Amino acid sequence: MSQRVLTTESGAPVADNQNSATAGAGGPLLLQDQHLLEKLARFNRERIPERVVHARGSGAYGHFEVTDDVTDFTHADFLGAVGKRTEVFLRFSTVADSLGGADAVRDPRGFAVKFYTEEGNYDLVGNNTPVFFIKDPIKFPDFIHSQKRDPFTGRQEPDNVWDFWAHSPEATHQVTWLMGDRGIPASYRHMNGYGSHTYQWTNSRGEAFFVKYHFKTNQGIRCLSSEQAAEIAGKDPGSHQTDLLQAIERGVHPSWTLHVQLMPAAEAAEYRFNPFDLTKVWPHQDYPLRRVGRLVLDRNPDNVFAEVEQAAFSPNNFVPGIGPSPDKMLQGRLFAYADAHRYRLGVNHTLLAVNAPRATTAQNYGRDGLMASNPQGRYAKNYEPNSYDGPTETGRPLSAPLAVHGHTGTHAAPAHTKDDDFFQAGELYRLMSAEEKSRLVANIAGGLAQVSRDDVIEKNLAHFHAADPEYGRRVEEAVRALRED
Ligand code: HEM
Repeated sequence: MSQRVLTTESGAPVADNQNSATAGAGGPLLLQDQHLLEKLARFNRERIPERVVHARGSGAYGHFEVTDDVTDFTHADFLGAVGKRTEVFLRFSTVADSLGGADAVRDPRGFAVKFYTEEGNYDLVGNNTPVFFIKDPIKFPDFIHSQKRDPFTGRQEPDNVWDFWAHSPEATHQVTWLMGDRGIPASYRHMNGYGSHTYQWTNSRGEAFFVKYHFKTNQGIRCLSSEQAAEIAGKDPGSHQTDLLQAIERGVHPSWTLHVQLMPAAEAAEYRFNPFDLTKVWPHQDYPLRRVGRLVLDRNPDNVFAEVEQAAFSPNNFVPGIGPSPDKMLQGRLFAYADAHRYRLGVNHTLLAVNAPRATTAQNYGRDGLMASNPQGRYAKNYEPNSYDGPTETGRPLSAPLAVHGHTGTHAAPAHTKDDDFFQAGELYRLMSAEEKSRLVANIAGGLAQVSRDDVIEKNLAHFHAADPEYGRRVEEAVRALRED
């Protein structure tokens, strides 16, 4: 086989890739050395802004196969027949740390799925936790500032982390979840994924249902203790990446079974708590899990930067039969992601192979912009309506309309009879075994005892007391013991 020739980016052969061109042996470099200039300049531009959250991640391709009929609830085509398969790309992530952080840390995990459906890409951008810390998007930048590195000390500060939670009683449920055993998954394969928010499904008769998604891992849930995690994070900061990559390369294909909870739209207003409150789960006794299908990952990306770093998921990418609910957090996210992509990747990020539709083609009048490679050229018109054969609207909304009433204003969510911020945190605590409770209390106390202000500690303790008196008492005793040490 003949050796392939090394070329510059414009394709010209390179004569020497080891010695820069100089003015005489030992002399200064020549500006005319195109290969050197290009090599150094390109290297300077290799990094792009990392994601402001979920910076560190791993991805893989696979498919989703429908196993159970859900056509009574949604007319989404990719869920339309048992046995139907759709290609997917899934990106897992940690949340708080930067791209160079470690995988084995106490932090939620992202679980973002892109379904390449025949009706366009459907992005379900969830986490490994069914709930979240806050319920209004206006708090999100403050929340994330408090959890990421402090602008002065450059490290995550317990003072900031717990100060935010002191002022956010609604976080108590998710904090209980995060500080418990599931707070550090052993790997991306050994955790569940949740859509977390309530979404809306619409069937072919126009009937609307509210829906929550649960991807249950078929590998079984496995978690790490804080001590195990610290050791693994030190030995292999990329432990989750290593695990996922190697499992798939070995032919061990991880899978998840998708279940949904479905609430007829008419029941939402009368439910005992706000069903669009992201800090709460819907009890399974009220809305049981229904199986939908199986998601399998069987192919690693060829290039991590091109396909994982440049992957762009937006909760706003819906397909016919699926839409948003009035969940305020979700509504905020409908803006945030595509805006982040335009900043991080540019206006043409949907042309990248990982982000472009695969089972259909995008046809619209968006044109030009940085790095455009839009094939719609020649006589294709760039305006609409037109008298030619350009693409036209369908007149069919993707999902059913949401009912609204009242006046504009900065309202709290509509009151339901059992809306308080603590009862589900208490229920989660009481569900735990004696050993789990002890580990939970120790994990919380370990963090809270590092806080420098007594009033911040007191406010947090009040939240655990409100969730469950025993929970509050045990955390308080453990914090006091650590601070007296
Ligand atoms: C990533 C915003 C809440 C899951 C991101 C990114 C932004 C963002 C700007 C970076 C996107 C990028 O650069 O590609 C927000 C806002 C939220 C919010 C404003 C609240 C109002 C949530 C919630 C979940 C979630 C509740 C899960 C249920 C994710 C995931 C990613 C992500 C999984 C990474 C996606 C990927 O792998 O590329 N978020 N987020 N976020 N967020 Fe959120």
